Amino acid sequence: MRTPLVLGNWKQNGSLATIADYAAEMAKQALPTTVEAGICPPALYVAAAINALKETKLAVGSQDCSEYSGGAFTGEINAAMISDMGCGYALVGHSERREMFGDTNARVADKFIAVKATDVTPVLCIGESLQDRESEKTFDVVGAQLRAVLEKTGEEGFIGGVIAYEPVWAIGTGLTASPEQAQEVHEFIRGVLAEFGETLKNSTRLLYGGSVNKDNARALFEKPDIDGGLIGGASLKVNDFAAVIQAAG
Ligand code: G3P
Repeated sequence: MRTPLVLGNWKQNGSLATIADYAAEMAKQALPTTVEAGICPPALYVAAAINALKETKLAVGSQDCSEYSGGAFTGEINAAMISDMGCGYALVGHSERREMFGDTNARVADKFIAVKATDVTPVLCIGESLQDRESEKTFDVVGAQLRAVLEKTGEEGFIGGVIAYEPVWAIGTGLTASPEQAQEVHEFIRGVLAEFGETLKNSTRLLYGGSVNKDNARALFEKPDIDGGLIGGASLKVNDFAAVIQAAG
């Protein structure tokens, strides 16, 4: 049995004031104890978010992680620092970082390994573009992104990690993958995991991300290979995000 997980990716949003208001509102929500949940604010706000959310059930995560472990890498934040701050999760390989900030499959694999070496749970983001999907390359692209990590970690080195399938064409567009489309790719991902071990296949949580909201979340989360979600826009609004978390319960 895989524990459902719902994470909010705040992207480049938020402020000290909005974090305080958000936490006060979230503390009033009745969140299911059967669902793990958290938010990933911009790095500068992680400490404030951890402090503000301590009365809630929400964990805090990082939106990225350097593959380096310290030294002359100006601006980079490494896994030990993310762990030191008390983060529970770290996203690696989000499509926006792949697209705009040079996150190649190789770098993402190194980032995953760096996070996995700490007590922080890595969340590997994978997903195809609209062009990939329209040219029927979804499985090739998603399979290559996942195998780039698995071939370096093996089953043992990946166990405990989380995968977020986020079709790029559904991110921020309001165009959500249908539950059937999402389930099809999640089933494929589980098949790739099975190539590296049955335990990995059965234990790895697969999150769906891409225009999830309070109205479509339940139908997605009811699918057998969808274990929760990685939520963007809807995670910025307390009531909407609480409803998505409840839908995973
Ligand atoms: O990482 C989650 C994000 O990419 C999804 O964004 O706004 O489509 O839920 P959104």
